[in-house]
Amino acid sequence: MADPIKFTIDGHELEAAPGTLVIDAAKRAGIEIPSFCYYEGYSLQAACRMCLVEVEKMPKMQVACTLPVGNGMVIHTDTDQVRTARKYTLEFLLTNHPLDCPVCDKGGECELQDMVFRYGAGESRFTETKIHVDEQQWSPVVFYDGPRCILCFRCVRACNEGMGVNALGVVNRGAVSLIAPNDGDHLNCDECGQCIDICPVGALTSGAYRYQTRPWEMEHVGTICTHCSNGCKTTLGVRNDQIIRGNNRDRSGINGEFLCIKGRYAFDFSDHAERLQSPMIRAANGKLEPASWSKALSTIAEKFGQIKARDGKFGVIGSNHTTNEENFYLQKFARQALGTNNIDHHRTGDAVTLVDALSGTTGKLATTQDLYDRKAFLIIGADLAIEQPFISFQIRASQRHHDAHIYVVTAAGVREDQYATKSIRTPGGSELAALPQLRDALAAEPELVILFNDSVKGEDVRKLVAFGQSLGNAVSYCPLLDYSNSRGAIDMGLLPELLPGFQASGTPGLTVGEMLAADDLDAVWIIGANPLKAGPLQSKKAFVVVQDMFLTESAQRADVLLPAASAYEKNGTVTNVCGEVQRLKRAISTIGAKPDLEIIGLIAKEMGLAPQMGPWLPETVYNEIRRTVKGYDIPLALVTVGAQQTAPVNGRVGVESRPDLIWSAHDTLFTSGTLGRYSKILNSVIESRSTHASHD
Ligand code: SF4
Ligand code: SF4
Ligand code: SF4
Ligand code: FES
Repeated sequence: MADPIKFTIDGHELEAAPGTLVIDAAKRAGIEIPSFCYYEGYSLQAACRMCLVEVEKMPKMQVACTLPVGNGMVIHTDTDQVRTARKYTLEFLLTNHPLDCPVCDKGGECELQDMVFRYGAGESRFTETKIHVDEQQWSPVVFYDGPRCILCFRCVRACNEGMGVNALGVVNRGAVSLIAPNDGDHLNCDECGQCIDICPVGALTSGAYRYQTRPWEMEHVGTICTHCSNGCKTTLGVRNDQIIRGNNRDRSGINGEFLCIKGRYAFDFSDHAERLQSPMIRAANGKLEPASWSKALSTIAEKFGQIKARDGKFGVIGSNHTTNEENFYLQKFARQALGTNNIDHHRTGDAVTLVDALSGTTGKLATTQDLYDRKAFLIIGADLAIEQPFISFQIRASQRHHDAHIYVVTAAGVREDQYATKSIRTPGGSELAALPQLRDALAAEPELVILFNDSVKGEDVRKLVAFGQSLGNAVSYCPLLDYSNSRGAIDMGLLPELLPGFQASGTPGLTVGEMLAADDLDAVWIIGANPLKAGPLQSKKAFVVVQDMFLTESAQRADVLLPAASAYEKNGTVTNVCGEVQRLKRAISTIGAKPDLEIIGLIAKEMGLAPQMGPWLPETVYNEIRRTVKGYDIPLALVTVGAQQTAPVNGRVGVESRPDLIWSAHDTLFTSGTLGRYSKILNSVIESRSTHASHD
């Protein structure tokens, strides 16, 4: 390692690695050098001149955001000359600024406002008429107010470098320069909102949040996005029990400040007008009619009790969105109280075979941090940018910052092709057959992460692991699953053949498909899933209980329908695609709905099973998970402060996964199963795409 550089900032003797920028060295020492265009992680711009400092023996003031520290350098960040430079820079930036802070969304959290407050002048020498440009709407999500723009180009770099989309550029020169879409007058992009979030001023605003509130009127609740399996932390801005905004500006989660459109804006299903708010019972006239909770629960308890007493057949279908605690408690209820292994969920990837194939090894499951730190990635089958947005972002950043090598084996072109070392197309879906073409290159990599989606399952997972182990280098894996708690559903034993912790269940029960096809089920209990979208339930006699947020196809078949809380309305834990456990925190309450865990607990109580089932508090159930589920002995306090990867289940699983049942829904950036159907923002983007497509 090269010797550290020694230098002085404001009288503090400091050391830093060669190449460290003055602005970063100062920040690490607790000295702020104000900046607009500089943004950690993105290319240097040196556009705003806000970061000027004095360096002894240098004739002019220096730009701290592009100047590396040098041995013996003596830097001053708080002299009269520096303060005057900042004042003049701000005066220039405000030359054409509309100063409409009272109606600007950014007011109260605007970097320009803060800088002017601290370093600016009370009056301006510029009295010329300001150049007005009308505000533009580039998409349902993105609005641009040109006069507020200070041309820091953060948005352009976030889109180009961070997202790999390159949707934004600059038009005109000098005082009339503006940011503009690269593709005409509208955006055809990921609608991620990264550009809006990173804008230091109110030039870019979001269609979802603008003019809704002042920032100081919100409470901020850090929880986990409920859409895909990547498990991004999202900080929800809540006012009057309503979620107004999602972002992660404090970078406190695994995802830093990244969020895709779903994590940033698609919380809006939670206050959709069609949310179920009251239990419903099917009346004698065949219609679902509102009922009280006590009536609904007693009806279920009575019916379940009767069916159990006569040794009838139950089927239980769970969800890959519900929490670990709910899934654990549900399978416990099914197995211990109802006496059935007929419990399953929609399987979206083959983590089971991977765990089995890796038995006897350790350190083989990649973390989300590994997806940034590692230097080589093999992506099999998946269009990451569309289906696994945060994973795609991590790998893109690794390529940018570490020159990571990316190898892609997919049926069609993907965004990663732009910077891949090698891409192979397998239109016939023969991904594994293509791997020998990459063997030498992959074996030459000191370390490698292999990511695979549902195109590799069953025996193919074993073949893939054998291929990986044969390379002779450090290989880790990431089985790509779909939904927010797909991994947790497997780990908690929401499978007919597996108990929690990948333990064989002995006598496998019915799968989802078998439950739907069976004509002799006496009761079907569906929690947070919509299996009847694919087809009807064959058992006409079945008493059907559904817990859901909306009147889905499955809910319409219910005999008793119970309104369930969303992920943003409850506490608990979820496990992401990399096996990292994170904590959900309740941001809002919803009138009439209850968390699934509470509903299951109340049914147990009504059936007189409370002593057997134990309390239904999330913390209590989590403690039981810690004691009984392999890999999950992680203190809740650690999960509360950050993601914790579950320990590998280091033993044979003992049952074969069911590759025939594994399929990904291949949700895109703008779809998300039932939640997506009820998200206004996602639907508005889809609609706008079709409108623009017909006009383009
Ligand atoms: S919303 Fe995202 S993809 Fe679209 S322009 Fe902004 S940064 Fe780029
Ligand atoms: S729109 Fe915002 S982020 Fe983009 S250049 Fe203007 S001020 Fe900077
Ligand atoms: S990448 Fe996935 S977890 Fe992250 S914000 Fe998007 S949908 Fe949510
Ligand atoms: S922050 Fe250094 S020039 Fe903009």
